[in-house]
Amino acid sequence: MMKINEHYTEIGNNYLFAEVAGKVREYRGKHPDKKVISLGIGDITQPIAPAVIDAITRATREMAKAETLRGYAPYEGYDFLVNAILKHDFTDRGIAVEADEIFISDGAKSDTGNIGDILGTDNQVAITDPAYPVYVDTNLMAGRKIELLPCTPANQFVPPFPKKTADVIYLCYPNNPTGTALTKEQLKPWVDYATEHQSLILFDAAYEAFVSQENVPHSIFEIEGARKVAIEFRSFSKTAGFTGLRAGYTVVPKDLLAKTARGETLSLNEMWRRRQSTKFNGTSYIIQRGAEAVYSPEGLAQTGETIAYYMQNAKIIKETLETLSLKCYGGVNAPYIWCQTPGSTTSWEFFDYLLNNAQVVGTPGSGFGASGEGFFRFTAFGNREDTLEAVERIKQRI
Ligand code: MLT
Repeated sequence: MMKINEHYTEIGNNYLFAEVAGKVREYRGKHPDKKVISLGIGDITQPIAPAVIDAITRATREMAKAETLRGYAPYEGYDFLVNAILKHDFTDRGIAVEADEIFISDGAKSDTGNIGDILGTDNQVAITDPAYPVYVDTNLMAGRKIELLPCTPANQFVPPFPKKTADVIYLCYPNNPTGTALTKEQLKPWVDYATEHQSLILFDAAYEAFVSQENVPHSIFEIEGARKVAIEFRSFSKTAGFTGLRAGYTVVPKDLLAKTARGETLSLNEMWRRRQSTKFNGTSYIIQRGAEAVYSPEGLAQTGETIAYYMQNAKIIKETLETLSLKCYGGVNAPYIWCQTPGSTTSWEFFDYLLNNAQVVGTPGSGFGASGEGFFRFTAFGNREDTLEAVERIKQRI
């Protein structure tokens, strides 16, 4: 008889953002006359940079001619994109990464979820709490044991070390959902911890492009020793509006080695290459040309403007909520504002209250983990008009 993966019974029925979307759909169905403003899922609203669109258009036209047609992409990505990433994101910043350590993918969500394929299910996993739900859900699906590391105002959102030695540690900085960041000095002890305990850090840097403060690292590989203990995930979704286009990349240093049960040494870089070439057929040529254009002078200027636009939204949201005496965090190095709910309102109660009374959607903090209870996440990815209207409506209802 067919057996299912029983671990699926340990996760909730719905992925967090699917649950929020379901509730909003239901509300819209009942109130078709009301304009609902979403500051919930971190999805883009601003047009994609013209430089990217031009590159995608040119690449699409190439598909119309036999001489320039492209079929399957290389499993690890095209050299033109790998080299653009290498130069701009690493070499120009003085960070040591090599071309064959970069794996182009369809985004950080898939990679942070799929990386578990090359890791044993008997690893003890540590995950910050609150966290992007993919980390907890995918580890529960695999049956791994998880220790949550509460990140709250009491510890200034700096994760405490696990009580039980962790084999695998998920860190996301700048952080989703709290919008907070770690300085280099705060990240270094984690690299030291991983070195001492031979743990692996899975570093999700999807929001790197929003870093504005000098001492906040863009990459974990800015920290000495990280090449031996960390894998880094990057995304074009938030950096350049690729939520619908889909592109990201993962850096797996060749220094990452692990021992098999039989005592052989294996390279995680080789294992990931094997995994990707078996289960993934590459990000499309057209989209990779679009991603390459993000690094052109025009692409950098245009995407930079959009990021500044979103960060201005973050400022507007944060400042308005603060005038309502709601304590807020984040919004400086990340496009998320993490705000305390009023009084003793729970996260989901506040969600319902705002949806029903202000027709504004946010994401309930408890959806990201128990330590998120009593918090609410607003995204800065709305358009300006809607953001201003949303904060005005909130002002009138609180
Ligand atoms: C979020 O809102 O946390 C993200 O947009 C979700 C995602 O990146 O998958």
